[in-house]
Amino acid sequence: MVVPERILTNQELAELVETTDEWIVSRTGIRERHIASDDQTTASLAAEAALKALSVARLKPSDIDLIIVATSSPEHIFPATACLVQDRIGAVKAGAFDLLAACSGFIYALNMASQAIRSGSVTNALVIGSETLSRLVDWKDRGTCILFGDGAGAFVLQAAEERAGVLSAVMRSDGSGGDLLTVPGGGSRHPTTLDTVQQGLHFVQMNGREVFRFATRVMSQATQEAVGKAGLTLDDIHLVIPHQANQRIIETALKNLNIPKERCVINLDRYGNTSTASIPIATCEAIDAGRIQPGDKLVFVGFGAGLTWGAAVVEWSGPFPGVRKVRPRRLRWYAHLRSVILRLLRRIDALIWGRHNPYP
Ligand code: ACO
Repeated sequence: MVVPERILTNQELAELVETTDEWIVSRTGIRERHIASDDQTTASLAAEAALKALSVARLKPSDIDLIIVATSSPEHIFPATACLVQDRIGAVKAGAFDLLAACSGFIYALNMASQAIRSGSVTNALVIGSETLSRLVDWKDRGTCILFGDGAGAFVLQAAEERAGVLSAVMRSDGSGGDLLTVPGGGSRHPTTLDTVQQGLHFVQMNGREVFRFATRVMSQATQEAVGKAGLTLDDIHLVIPHQANQRIIETALKNLNIPKERCVINLDRYGNTSTASIPIATCEAIDAGRIQPGDKLVFVGFGAGLTWGAAVVEWSGPFPGVRKVRPRRLRWYAHLRSVILRLLRRIDALIWGRHNPYP
């Protein structure tokens, strides 16, 4: 996982908009969030998290066959942020694409990568959730700017003989609620114009109360469905790692499921809602705290714009044994050099062949 250094506290927010630390904590559970610096982007955070994940898995970037970046704040409409990550880490063999299912995106991506491995077409996959939502919120809108934070988290998924990894997954959507949480401008429906900018259509717009009601309903449903599909009961689940949007939503889901808070990971007080990054960040922290051991069964569950929601039951294997040491700093430097050489070669190629018509 990677989060920017800069921390924005509720007290600082209270100087920007009409709000208080007490209101934010009591309604959401959030105390502070991390905000990207000018030189940090969704791809740069994703690439850093990816290199860390590769060094834990003891894999080289060239071992990776597939990169999926789940993000709600991609760098561009195209190219995909995943392709920028591919270049930044030098994953020379990997296919790369973005997956847009808002905050449920990491669960969707995990399921897609797992299915690709199961089909035999992919051996090693990188699944990344990365966000710089601070760039998409209206810092004058107290209903949304208090909620979101920036960060990234990455998993490496590997083919193996033993039963582990994603045991079951549930993916659902309801597009009739698409207008409840949206960034309306900048796509083909409302291309960027002076008017769309003046109307604030490029910022996150949300009906918080409706999203809240939807979320409390689907979190427990999706969890139960995924656990049943895996042939397990809730008693078999060691930890629930929910999307970190709002403490009250998580507590309601736990109550509906009759799961004590000790069997749930909650870290939104320090990061806010990091959308697709929230589940991998919470997982990394739980591993660091010794709360997850190989063999443990976990539930990832989330919801988001779309509307989308989903859950996955996972048996944690931990990294496979290996001795290879992977040095992220060195890999980043090699990838940068490779990218510069490729760009240079493309220019030379255009100079040599540019004068000739390739279509005689
Ligand atoms: N500080 C002080 N007052 C506020 C603030 C604030 N930051 N924001 C809203 N208020 C006011 C409202 O104006 C309203 O005042 P009014 O009654 O005079 O009109 C009052 O507080 C209550 O507003 P509600 O919207 O009803 O507040 P609620 O208790 O629902 O909390 C919140 C709002 C925190 C946004 C909550 O609805 C929520 O968390 N919803 C879910 C949002 C979510 O999870 N979104 C992410 C989805 S994931 C993804 O895809 C990105």
